[in-house]
Amino acid sequence: MRISDANILARLAELGVELKHGTSLAELTSLGIGGTTDLLRIHKHESIPELLTLLDANQVRHKFLGGGSNLLVGDGELPWVVLQLVSPDPDVLLEGNLAHVDAAADLGRTVTYCAKHNLGGMEGLIGVPGTVGGALRMNAGAYGMQIGSYVREVKVYRAATRKIEILRGHQISFEYRHTSFAPDDMMLAVTLELPSKPYNEILQGIRICNEKRRSSQPLGQKSAGCIFKNPPGTSAGRMIDELGLKGLSFGDARVSARHANFFVNAGHASAKDMLALIANVRERVQKAYGVELENEVVVWNG
Ligand code: EPU
Repeated sequence: MRISDANILARLAELGVELKHGTSLAELTSLGIGGTTDLLRIHKHESIPELLTLLDANQVRHKFLGGGSNLLVGDGELPWVVLQLVSPDPDVLLEGNLAHVDAAADLGRTVTYCAKHNLGGMEGLIGVPGTVGGALRMNAGAYGMQIGSYVREVKVYRAATRKIEILRGHQISFEYRHTSFAPDDMMLAVTLELPSKPYNEILQGIRICNEKRRSSQPLGQKSAGCIFKNPPGTSAGRMIDELGLKGLSFGDARVSARHANFFVNAGHASAKDMLALIANVRERVQKAYGVELENEVVVWNG
């Protein structure tokens, strides 16, 4: 979708919103898949309520992009624009055991920065790509921890009230790869309360998680992490592997040879290829195990 109306363009400039025409979403997602649309880069949280009022008044559909690391975007010209926060400098401020973090901050760099200041707890997340906002929305987790456990406060734009609100941790429910945020809520910033731990000890935890990840996941390849959520008490990766589906391909969309719940873009996969692979694997697992796998990856298709 392209914004060409002169009045909208003038308002965007007044709001300090940077417009990048015809951006390829393939370049903004870890899967390397996705068509083109206009990208609106937001420099000030405070401009968001007015920006969204402007877009809604002009029937410009929109989606919020974090780090693009858990996302499968449709092909071709996309019917909505994409909003993305620009990270301020600095994007993490520490105050005792509290870390005030902008949603656009890189997750890995945030974990490392906190570690260097003897704040731990998030070691398991070190190899998870993406932004802090994206991790928060999904309640990202690995190796027995999840980000939600450390959330003290969240600054969020709530589409329902059209306001920026501060939510306390206890007002939000964090479940396995799921939170109580509405789909159109936009994460803006979070305050994490992290346990004190000596840097060396945190580093050791980070090394162990990195090693586990390196030995079991296809890190050098284009992927969106795990495609399916694990059904209660079992592993989607193990089931797909047991069915002998590693290497199964539709075009360049392929089940990873290393971890069967990672589907990689082995070249120039389209969203159509990837969606066909997902549907095919889901059907085979359903037939063999009677289990309906639920997507972990977020799909923006239409
Ligand atoms: N397994 C296989 N074959 C495979 C993959 C896994 O047999 O191809 C077996 C493993 O040997 C192991 C079991 O399945 O016995 C579980 O595998 P793993 O430890 O890799 O964990 P997972 O359940 O597949 C989950 C998360 C990962 C997270 C790891 C480590 C989900 C969907 N996946 O994977 O998160 O990194 O645990 O904590 O919850 C993600 O969210 O995108 C993600 C990758």
